[in-house]
Amino acid sequence: MAEKKHLRSSEWFNSSDKKMNFTHRSWLRNQGYPDDYFEGKPVIGICNTWSELTPCNGHLRDFAEIVKRGILEAGGVPLEFPVMSLGETLIRPTSMLFRNLASMDTEESIRGNPLDGIVLLTGCDKTTPSTVMGACSVDLPTIVVPGGPMLSGRFRGEKIGSGSMNWMVKERQKLEGYTDADFMEAEVCVARSIGHCNTMGTASTMATMVEALGLTLPGFSSIPAVDSRKKLFAQLSGRRIVEMVKEDLKLSKILTRKAFENAIITNAAVGGSTNLIIHLTAIAGRIGVDLKLEDFDSIGSKIPLLVNLKPSGKHLMEDFFYAGGLPVVLKELKELLHSDSITVNGKGFSENYEDAVCYDTDVISTLENPLQKEAGIAVLKGNLCENGAVIKPSAASKELMQHKGKAVVFESIEDYHNRIDDPHLDIDKDSVIVLKGVGPKGYPGMAEVGNVDLPEKLILQGVKDMVRISDGRMSGTAAGTVILHVSPESTVGGTLALVQNGDLIELDVANRKLHLDVSDAEIAQRKAAWKAPEPMANRGYVKIYIDHVEQADKGADLDFLVGGSGSNVERDLH
Ligand code: FES
Ligand code: MG
Repeated sequence: MAEKKHLRSSEWFNSSDKKMNFTHRSWLRNQGYPDDYFEGKPVIGICNTWSELTPCNGHLRDFAEIVKRGILEAGGVPLEFPVMSLGETLIRPTSMLFRNLASMDTEESIRGNPLDGIVLLTGCDKTTPSTVMGACSVDLPTIVVPGGPMLSGRFRGEKIGSGSMNWMVKERQKLEGYTDADFMEAEVCVARSIGHCNTMGTASTMATMVEALGLTLPGFSSIPAVDSRKKLFAQLSGRRIVEMVKEDLKLSKILTRKAFENAIITNAAVGGSTNLIIHLTAIAGRIGVDLKLEDFDSIGSKIPLLVNLKPSGKHLMEDFFYAGGLPVVLKELKELLHSDSITVNGKGFSENYEDAVCYDTDVISTLENPLQKEAGIAVLKGNLCENGAVIKPSAASKELMQHKGKAVVFESIEDYHNRIDDPHLDIDKDSVIVLKGVGPKGYPGMAEVGNVDLPEKLILQGVKDMVRISDGRMSGTAAGTVILHVSPESTVGGTLALVQNGDLIELDVANRKLHLDVSDAEIAQRKAAWKAPEPMANRGYVKIYIDHVEQADKGADLDFLVGGSGSNVERDLH
């Protein structure tokens, strides 16, 4: 017989100190577990981001029960626990402010408890990176169960995407005079089922990212939340994590530098969200992989766009699944990906995806005939963003990729709201909208406001896009020629803070340049006169966050959370 693996949980349940065992086991036995229940069995923590405040994850309570079926079948012991859940649609001022807090919750909940393996139940945008970050800092065998996208929306015969619809109804209110009744009707037509947003927004991007990193069973991420196969895969994930514990297949064995490169390439091919940059960088930091902002450009920018999904294209996640989903993309990218990267099922990429078949080439195209030749994120440099800024060319307007225009400056998001629709605002279609104070420290939390609406008077003239620059993020469901993540941010005195109305700004995406056309001497003079704004909070988590958050190019993690502390805890509780 093979030698039995030493289980971390046995230090709680089967140690030589019987008195300690008593403490740890007795209270658990109020659930009615038999006395040999924990003996020699891997204990699997099901880390659940279910919450009624996160509607996208509203089904994960049921999913946990399905995961448990698989764990029990495979001879493990499931113990479900809640962690802070971050929903995009309700929490103020922005869920991103709390991503790192949720990651700490996940990390300490895992490390402090008698767990051998982890299943992360995720869905809405931040629930994926926060839990993966936390799990990385402990580094146990871990598998991700992505909650899945909702069904396609339908509104008056038109197929509509959640998230993208936000921008559409706002525009229609201005152009077509939408009434309250129109809004009410649209509301219920968009979110038709359980699941996260159905565009290739941040949630779908994150689900795709975890599969491309090798952290889900192959094919899992694109299945709609309501599809029976979602449950099937959840059960299989439960079975698999028990095996992973036996194989000691820890996160650090899967999350190598190659895995991160695979995720960057895949994100470009699916037209994923710019938010990936920040989250992937933060995850890399936790697991000790060196990943720089420039890597997203050098590895991803030449990758063609293969997937025709909103916001870059026209279809939705449900169509993507019917067309064959992510397996088709990963098979098509075979030559570009590191095919030998190992995944949670212990197999490499090429083996996992070799049987994928495309059923709709309008949704998933080929490398020979891509939707766009170079689709990955471009990283800009220049005196306006010394540590970089990003733009998503697949969501931008071709004619604005090289542009020079006069800055129209807004000092804060409130300033923007107060003045943008002022009929006397000196702005035209060639102006460059500059928004300050929306970075990691400034907002605080780096809100998704970078894709600010154009002035109403220009929309009515038929202007569809303008260059916009900020230190914030944009929703993965948004589009436009939007320059984001300017680092260093304005609140810490980056050059962005010094831009004045009428300054000329030059954007040249082909040459990766973002330049403020003001002399160095003038910039230095303005800098000397610049005063840092008062911090936005003086107590609580927000103060910790403001004091410690890193800039966007480093993933906006808290400086003291970078890296990990492993799974060992020396001291017991008595
Ligand atoms: Fe939750 Fe979009 S609001 S995924
Ligand atoms: Mg979002």
